Amino acid sequence: MSKFFYITTPIYYPSAKPHMGHAYSSIVADFFARFKRIQGYNVLFLTGTDEHGQKIQRAAEKKGMEPKAFCDEISKTFFDLSKTLNLSNDDFIRTTELRHKKSVENLWNILEKKNEIYLSKYSGWYSVSDEAFYSEEEIETKDNKKISKLSGSPVEWVEEESFFFKLSKWQKPLLKFYNDNPDFILPESRKNEVISFVKGGLKDLSVSRKSFSWGIKVPSNKDHVIYVWLDALTNYISALNYPNTNDKLYKSYWPATVHLIGKDILRFHAVYWPAFLLAADIDAPKRVYGHGWILSGEEKMSKSKGNILDPIEIVDTYGLDPLRYYLIKEVSFGNDGNISKEKLENCINSDLANNYGNLCQRVISFIEKNLELKIPENYSFTKEDKEVLKIYEDSFNKLIDSIDNQNINFYVNFIQDQLFAANKYFNDQEPWKKKEDLIRLNTILYVSIELIRKISIMLYPIIPDSSLKALKIFNISEDKIDFNSIKVHENLKKNDKLNKISILFKKIEKND
Ligand code: MSP
Repeated sequence: MSKFFYITTPIYYPSAKPHMGHAYSSIVADFFARFKRIQGYNVLFLTGTDEHGQKIQRAAEKKGMEPKAFCDEISKTFFDLSKTLNLSNDDFIRTTELRHKKSVENLWNILEKKNEIYLSKYSGWYSVSDEAFYSEEEIETKDNKKISKLSGSPVEWVEEESFFFKLSKWQKPLLKFYNDNPDFILPESRKNEVISFVKGGLKDLSVSRKSFSWGIKVPSNKDHVIYVWLDALTNYISALNYPNTNDKLYKSYWPATVHLIGKDILRFHAVYWPAFLLAADIDAPKRVYGHGWILSGEEKMSKSKGNILDPIEIVDTYGLDPLRYYLIKEVSFGNDGNISKEKLENCINSDLANNYGNLCQRVISFIEKNLELKIPENYSFTKEDKEVLKIYEDSFNKLIDSIDNQNINFYVNFIQDQLFAANKYFNDQEPWKKKEDLIRLNTILYVSIELIRKISIMLYPIIPDSSLKALKIFNISEDKIDFNSIKVHENLKKNDKLNKISILFKKIEKND
């Protein structure tokens, strides 16, 4: 039976060029997509840009540009970033595309037909930066300015005619939905936040704006543009060719396996989105995972705070895989994480250059000198050899479960432990002292190179380029990587020729 896995990143506002927070969401989503592919799933991985609304219109005006031309320019920087980060996304959606407009209009029409939308007047607070409506209780005054307590963004008073979605009526069905689908919102702590928000009562949601024009027009009333979040969330089904629900993509991939998002946009994904879908009689996604923030010092890294580590600069200086590895390893997934260049450099030197790169070089050079780069023919495992190999078989199901529950930390810790174990094995066994005992020498080298194969496969979703370089030792190309093969003890064929590889990671010189 075919197995399908659909993962999405948030679609990013092309209001300014991308920063590390955006890179983080995308890299983590790429990690899951790559893992599921090598596990044998049909994967669809979607990212893109969220181009409508007042925030973008104002950003374009500031630059003296037409919004579409402005979006074309900045959306391209996000598209380019997806290449720089080596994302394996299958599609890149822009909400200014026709396929998306049709999809949003269709969803709107269904909601209107089902009597889920009515015309009234909105008067209240609005944050253009968050594109969010806030109640009086969610606002505070700081330095004489009204801001959102949640995000700290400035808010302004809005009074205008607006269409409303009957969100209040979905309070109970949503609570039932969370109850019936206990893994819909992860991590657990965020789920509790959402449930208490919904329990606190839901007001009908303003879903159109009249005071600006940059957006998708309400089909039945062209004076209104559709609220940018209703527009944006729909991207997840637009990319599957919704409204054609008979389309192969839609049938195979909806409901999405996981929407990966930052915790700042949980309410939109875990409350509004399932409510829209339930109201339109469309299945809700299976999971929404809200990860933490990348912090610089104690603050969220963001353009308005001016504390940005530029992902492109970091990639230029250190290379892509070190950044990917560092972000995935350093940030305890689900929580906020502090990053710094210094810690990145330490991580490159210890984990990547010493523990992984050096191990590959040492073992392969040794095999070159002693076995003419061939997998040995005669070997015999001792209990100790079997133990160091067996851990992969014993942990196999746990590793898959950890990924399916977005428990990246378990997966990464396992790799770190196994890198340590493989280095320790090679050092403790001292193959350089076993040249007289050919069977023992063969066995140590067989086990060591087999461990390198397993670890390199496990590293593929995190550092695809470097892992592929290492897997050249075994002539394993990208389409041949099979995660299931890590549990097999003797995957390497006797007498097969191995290849030498160039250095995987350069150490960073430090002056202290
Ligand atoms: N356009 C909306 C999302 C619509 S999805 C239907 C949006 N865009 S955004 O560009 O402002 O941010 C998108 C995402 O970038 C955040 O949810 C989060 O995943 C990521 N990050 C932005 N800043 C971040 C950090 N400092 N740290 C980690 N991720 C953060 O919201």
